[in-house]
Amino acid sequence: MSVDRGSWSSKFGFILAAAGSAVGLGNIWKFPYITGENGGGVFVLIYLVSVAIVGIPIMISEVVIGRASQKSPVGAFSFLAGENSSWKFVGMLGVASGFIILSYYSVVAGWALNYTFMSLTNFFDGKTAEQISGTFNTLYSSAGINLFWHSVFMILTAAVVVAGVKKGIERWNRILMPILILMFIIFAVFSIFLSGWKEAVEFVFYPHIDKLKPSGVLEALGHAFFTLSLGMGAMLTYGSYLDKKTNIPQAAIYVSLLDTAVALLACMVMFPVIFTYGFNPQAGPGLVFQTFPVIFGEIGRAGMLLSFILFTLLVFAALSSAVSLLEVVTSYFIDEKGWDRKKATLITAGAVFLFGIPSALSGTGLLFPEWQTMYGKNFFDTFDYLASNWMLPLGGLFISIYVGWAMDPALRKAEFETGGNFSKSWYYKTWLFFLKFIAPLAVIAVILQRVGIIDFDILF
Ligand code: PFF
Repeated sequence: MSVDRGSWSSKFGFILAAAGSAVGLGNIWKFPYITGENGGGVFVLIYLVSVAIVGIPIMISEVVIGRASQKSPVGAFSFLAGENSSWKFVGMLGVASGFIILSYYSVVAGWALNYTFMSLTNFFDGKTAEQISGTFNTLYSSAGINLFWHSVFMILTAAVVVAGVKKGIERWNRILMPILILMFIIFAVFSIFLSGWKEAVEFVFYPHIDKLKPSGVLEALGHAFFTLSLGMGAMLTYGSYLDKKTNIPQAAIYVSLLDTAVALLACMVMFPVIFTYGFNPQAGPGLVFQTFPVIFGEIGRAGMLLSFILFTLLVFAALSSAVSLLEVVTSYFIDEKGWDRKKATLITAGAVFLFGIPSALSGTGLLFPEWQTMYGKNFFDTFDYLASNWMLPLGGLFISIYVGWAMDPALRKAEFETGGNFSKSWYYKTWLFFLKFIAPLAVIAVILQRVGIIDFDILF
């Protein structure tokens, strides 16, 4: 039962695909609005520190496990730690996280598809801010429209994954990632000419320490996991398709820098607009969907084109991330159950679609209307909360503990150093220090805060 697992054609192919996984709705939709909610600069600073001291060390670890085992998450842990080892459950947790995240991620991506389509019909032209935010609310509460775009997005995702590692995932990322980065640079340059640009730069980059909220520190750390696609084995799976020549630490640093660059560019496109037009930076999750079309609507035909480009990019970014989420689930069935790629993709994508239906209907009150009363959050928010705040940080914690404390040290060192010029051993030692101590302690702090055992707001 030897199935050809596929591989990247080059280091560049891997970096683009991994960056494609990292850059997604997390950067363009979520990061700007949580930056707005958490007071700007100081939040951005803490997020950057989290990426550097927790994100990068864990990303290197995931790729190390993936390449050392040449397997997807469950198989990787059985292979490295032994068939009957409990580490296998970390892989299982990853597969479950991928399944859950994709189910609601596809719904938000569906909104972006809907807005792309609305841009084409020049819908926003001449509409008032109220009409435009009303449109978002109509979309949110419409069963048919949500289900339609959710299914379109899942079909697109499955179509890329079914084509395989090189022909599907890598090929699409090679096309989409450079366009995305280029377009955001162009948008960010345009926004320099807006009158609110200076205020935006000050808001995003100047850390006002008095705005520091300890819960914001924890939110920044949690977001670092989501945005870098860590804690569920996505980077592990992509690492399993990586050749033995590529230098892992260097690739992980490039991917993290690209991801961070897109998040900051998204802020530098959005905040100048927000300050120029006097919007509230704390507008929340509706920021992209409710704010941008207002501007586009004011500038007529050119606005229609810009709006189309912006939402198309959002769809692209979401697609390359969704592909990595589905790949984790699909590759489990390919590697562990011996299914062929087509069967594995179709069945898993179908199951994710079905599980996403209640999320797609969350704003309609049609399915499980009593869910909110029972659990305090609607179906969509419950699973987002569960996956982002629990499953990813826990997965990341176990991965850092496994690689830091349990993995064969010789294999770990060899994977870290292959393909690089590591005459200086402090690179390896520094990574190990962050992996063994800093990353697990930081994640444990997040979890204790979430459980409510420690309230950092009171401690400070
Ligand atoms: N990193 C993606 C984003 O920022 O939108 C989301 C994501 C993809 C999370 C893949 C986790 C993952 F494994």
